[in-house]
Amino acid sequence: MRNAAITGWGMYVPEQVLTNHELEQMVDTSDEWIVSRTGIRERRLASTTEDTTLAMSCRASKQAIQVAGIDPADIDLIVLATVTPDKFMPSTSSLLQTELGAHRAAAFDLAAACSGFVYALAVGSQFIQTGVYRTVLVVGTDALTRFIDFTDRGTCILFGDGSGAVVLQASDADEGVLSNVLGSDGRGAHHLYIDGFDSNGLYAANGNGAVEELQRTYMKMNGNEVFRFSVRVMGETAVEAVNKAGLRLGDIDWLIPHQANLRIIDAAAKRLDLPRERVWVNLDRYGNTSAASVPICLAEAADSGKLKPGMNMVLVAFGAGLSWASSVVRWGSQGVRGREAERDG
Ligand code: UT7
Repeated sequence: MRNAAITGWGMYVPEQVLTNHELEQMVDTSDEWIVSRTGIRERRLASTTEDTTLAMSCRASKQAIQVAGIDPADIDLIVLATVTPDKFMPSTSSLLQTELGAHRAAAFDLAAACSGFVYALAVGSQFIQTGVYRTVLVVGTDALTRFIDFTDRGTCILFGDGSGAVVLQASDADEGVLSNVLGSDGRGAHHLYIDGFDSNGLYAANGNGAVEELQRTYMKMNGNEVFRFSVRVMGETAVEAVNKAGLRLGDIDWLIPHQANLRIIDAAAKRLDLPRERVWVNLDRYGNTSAASVPICLAEAADSGKLKPGMNMVLVAFGAGLSWASSVVRWGSQGVRGREAERDG
């Protein structure tokens, strides 16, 4: 089996910032409440014209391709994790393929909500490990704020938009994706969802079903239930991925977690016995960007230079489904070369 190494990374967040103080003007909340309960201070909102799911994916992907130093025509497969595609069909990944000039690539979207990127990383790495493909672009992009009811203080404080991408390449070195754990429990589906279309092609009824409400569909969430689930599952699935990689907790150098709530992240870090300085946190700036949160963290961590060859990290996420996913990744020297290439322009 060959290894699937991360050799390129990129990220994009929209320009428009929405602060907690601005939210105070919109719903009955306070900066103090949001920071103490979640750790979030501000988030980015996708512009309806500039920041389509395709456009955000394209920006993050181009960076990742540049860092990897590959030609887009080298890409064998694009897996794009999103639950907010611009169109039902074709897949956003097909549109992305054209934008990038990755004309040889197979392409499909993958929907696993906030767990989507880690699911996609598992799929992409398997194609490399089994020798089917050599180069895979894995993208996580969401614009969930399009489906947020900005009169619902239970959800509107949490989410932001963005995109992150990595290039995976076949490697014979001791690096790359070492293990994957994927999980789902559909019994909890009703705790976090966005309705789709009904049999008349209209958005399924929200609220009282008045005609004007049929025009919009909003995220619904039972925050307490999702919180309880996530505190349990983040730690459990992270430990499972470490065991599956044949490592011990002491071998883990970094936790790159889904950015939903600082209290949830802290619980996972405690389970892994990692101090805060070994946990990548950016939800204070971006909130919960769904499928984009883990690759955005990864891109920031890689750009910081704090990831050294041979370091092991756990990527872990949870979300609607209810779903969860984790991977152990060993950082390699290809990653360092990529960084140098990026620095040299
Ligand atoms: O990617 C997965 C996406 N979803 C999640 O990650 C959600 C996970 N859940 C959470 O992060 C937390 O459950 C929340 C941040 C959503 C809520 O925090 P909590 O500590 O579980 O608060 P709570 O829902 O138990 O509410 C406590 C109080 C309630 O008031 P009472 O009943 O005690 O008077 C709420 O009505 O806080 C109130 N509250 C708020 N107050 C100010 C709820 N939302 C807000 C708000 N501002 N935005």
